[in-house]
Amino acid sequence: MDFKRTPFLFIIFFIILTPQTLSSDEKFEACAPKSCGKGPNISYPFRVAHSHSPFCGLPTFDITCRHEYPVIKISGEDYIIREISYQAHSFLVANAAVYDVKCPTPLHNFTLHRTPFTYTPDHIGFFFFYNCTSLPPKFSYPIHCSNTTKLHSFAAFHDGFMEHMNFSVDSCQSSVEVPIDIPNQDDDFSGLLRKSYSDVLKMGFTLNWSAQNCSNCETSGGRCGFESNEFVCFCPDGPHLQTCKQGNFLGNKSCSCSNLSSVFLFLLVNNLS
Ligand SMILES: *[C@@H]1O[C@H](CO)[C@@H](O)[C@H](O)[C@H]1NC(C)=O
Ligand SMILES: *[C@@H]1O[C@H](CO)[C@@H](O)[C@H](O)[C@H]1NC(C)=O
Ligand SMILES: *[C@@H]1O[C@H](CO)[C@@H](O)[C@H](O)[C@H]1NC(C)=O
Ligand SMILES: *[C@@H]1O[C@H](CO)[C@@H](O)[C@H](O)[C@H]1NC(C)=O
Ligand SMILES: *[C@@H]1O[C@H](CO)[C@@H](O)[C@H](O)[C@H]1NC(C)=O
Ligand SMILES: *[C@@H]1O[C@H](CO)[C@@H](O)[C@H](O)[C@H]1NC(C)=O
Ligand SMILES: *[C@@H]1O[C@H](CO)[C@@H](O)[C@H](O)[C@H]1NC(C)=O
Ligand SMILES: *[C@@H]1O[C@H](CO)[C@@H](O)[C@H](O)[C@H]1NC(C)=O
Ligand SMILES: *[C@@H]1O[C@H](CO)[C@@H](O)[C@H](O)[C@H]1NC(C)=O
Repeated sequence: MDFKRTPFLFIIFFIILTPQTLSSDEKFEACAPKSCGKGPNISYPFRVAHSHSPFCGLPTFDITCRHEYPVIKISGEDYIIREISYQAHSFLVANAAVYDVKCPTPLHNFTLHRTPFTYTPDHIGFFFFYNCTSLPPKFSYPIHCSNTTKLHSFAAFHDGFMEHMNFSVDSCQSSVEVPIDIPNQDDDFSGLLRKSYSDVLKMGFTLNWSAQNCSNCETSGGRCGFESNEFVCFCPDGPHLQTCKQGNFLGNKSCSCSNLSSVFLFLLVNNLS
């Protein structure tokens, strides 16, 4: 062997080897659950911007941290994620504006159009009526900060209630509906009416998500991710298709490199052929 070429070969060897050997358990490490400081731990299908790598979750589950709380954008507005149940595939959100501004008034009807989320059966509609010429009916929530002396704004549960109160919704300039989860106890309704409308908004609502169940990957010691439009189970020894225990190791693009012969085999298959 030519002695002068040996160090050169070693450099080539490490340049070729380094990024690929790191890729296996680096992805496992990269997808560890993260927290914004307060609130729940965040992992697949969610991913935290600037903290998780993109392959740790799905694009429609992007989370940013604000004032140490996780925030997700749904239908153009920011929602604070208060709780996540990875087992039930559900999460509890509340409009972030309720915490940010003094007089939060939703201006858009909430919609789940073009999201991977669905409502749970617990939600009901909470209605906002703005700039009405008629006085707010009984059992509604006044919005003191957006009325002029002639116009009135308020919130109320259920639009059938407005009819019942003989309130003409036509006297209002605009109306908006947002979801709220109602506690199941029937006797709680009077307590609910004593809250302010912003406290009602803070109760939030639960959504279910649809994405591949991570449970099997996780119990096998892996962390779920999403790469090249496919579900991946990142394991300490590299990515697998479904769980760490199954033999379907995605061996060609990464290398566990625990022994020299597998290193050479890896180099041979991936680089020298
Ligand atoms: C987040 O994970 C850490 C470490 O596993 C754990 O100690 C903590 O209790 C978790 N926090 C929440 C809110 O579940
Ligand atoms: C995901 O799978 C686990 C284990 O099989 C199960 O307990 C859980 O209910 C499943 N979650 C959903 C939302 O299907
Ligand atoms: C209510 O009326 C005020 C004053 O005319 C206007 O500035 C505001 O945009 C209106 N709000 C809504 C929600 O229509
Ligand atoms: C809005 O109306 C309420 C009574 O309906 C009143 O107490 C409050 O002062 C009004 N606010 C403004 C800014 O005019
Ligand atoms: C609504 O109007 C009907 C018919 O005018 C009346 O019988 C009823 O008592 C009114 N309801 C309320 C809550 O004022
Ligand atoms: C919200 O939806 C209701 C009922 O579909 C509609 O009457 C109202 O105009 C919508 N509000 C806005 C701000 O688009
Ligand atoms: C939706 O979430 C609720 C509340 O966490 C849970 O009980 C239910 O099983 C979930 N449904 C589906 C289809 O995941
Ligand atoms: C690796 O790729 C080769 C051909 O490129 C293929 O024959 C082989 O089955 C692949 N191995 C795995 C574990 O996917
Ligand atoms: C090293 O890797 C090769 C190829 O993957 C395998 O056949 C062999 O059993 C391994 N040897 C040890 C000691 O792990």
